[in-house]
Amino acid sequence: TYKWQGIIKAYSKYLPVDDNTPIVSLYEGNTPLIDAYNLSKAIAPDKNLKIFLKYEGLNPTGSFKDRGMTLAITKAKEAGKEAVICASTGNTSASAAAYAARAGMKAYVLLPKGAVAIGKLSQAMIYGAKIIALMGNFDDALTIVREIGEKYPVEIVNSVNPYRIEGQKTAAFEIIDQLGDAPDFHFIPVGNAGNITAYWKGYKEYHKEGKSKKLPRMIGWQAEGAAPIVKGFPIKNPQTIATAIKIGNPYSWQPALQAARESNGFIDAVSDEEILEAYKLVASTEGVFCEPASAASIAGLIKSYRKGLFKGNETIVCTLTGNGLKDPDTAIKMSEKPIELPPDINEIAKYLGL
Ligand code: F0G
Repeated sequence: TYKWQGIIKAYSKYLPVDDNTPIVSLYEGNTPLIDAYNLSKAIAPDKNLKIFLKYEGLNPTGSFKDRGMTLAITKAKEAGKEAVICASTGNTSASAAAYAARAGMKAYVLLPKGAVAIGKLSQAMIYGAKIIALMGNFDDALTIVREIGEKYPVEIVNSVNPYRIEGQKTAAFEIIDQLGDAPDFHFIPVGNAGNITAYWKGYKEYHKEGKSKKLPRMIGWQAEGAAPIVKGFPIKNPQTIATAIKIGNPYSWQPALQAARESNGFIDAVSDEEILEAYKLVASTEGVFCEPASAASIAGLIKSYRKGLFKGNETIVCTLTGNGLKDPDTAIKMSEKPIELPPDINEIAKYLGL
């Protein structure tokens, strides 16, 4: 019987591995592509858009990072490395810590102090990483990590590491396998800009293999207070509620721009208010809980609809990059508080309007 054993086994033909590669996997990938018909009606009742959510929050550590991490850690293991290091807004560190644990390697992570969602921090801690709360932001952390990677025998597992991009491109393969073709549009949040780069690579490779007829237009979304690519210059002190994409000087800036240009797409920004509105909307209409940064793709879709981007009947995939449980604080802040009542059936029925 067929059993899913992760993206390296599933897509080895397209990845830099051979029969002797010591695969380190938590059986990541194979995430659902959810037909979001309620969201489509809520966002664009007149357009019959076929919106699908690539729910990457269902990966083993709750984000898309696992696709790249399985390959980055596998290749580090193959090369005999004993320790890995990363800078992170949270998800990369959770994934690195988990896969390092699985591989019997050490993980060192630098997190911007006070700017990482609690679920992500708890993951890096319990998986046993050595964690530094850096008195600085993500960009400062990445600069130091890159210097350490040059000077010391530790493998960097940020998307500076090309194996991360290789692993992450498999999400595009899955979408084509699931839909039978590429979508017309692919909406995706942009932070350090590795993922949009990876998807575009994946779409192009699978297209070349004859697996899809179309290539999608890649539409990337930054948060307004952290939108260096949109503005055209690095942001010294980026600000956004979407801490995962609170990045002022993305490493894959140029390849991300190239993905947008080559695909006839674009990269734009949405406000924190738009992000939070989309975050609530996707949860309340579809029962899909993603983290705020992930909702930038939905917020971008709403903005694009209002600007008249769609003619009607287009197929659109939105990547929901991380699980909502990563950041319970934001969910609680954004929602109606539970009411306290005594265990009295009459009072409860009265409150519920039954
Ligand atoms: N969404 C989430 C939930 C993320 O964690 C990230 C990046 C992105 C989107 C943006 O992806 O960087 O490839 O453009 N998180 C990194 C981290 C920076 O450290 O976890 P990107």
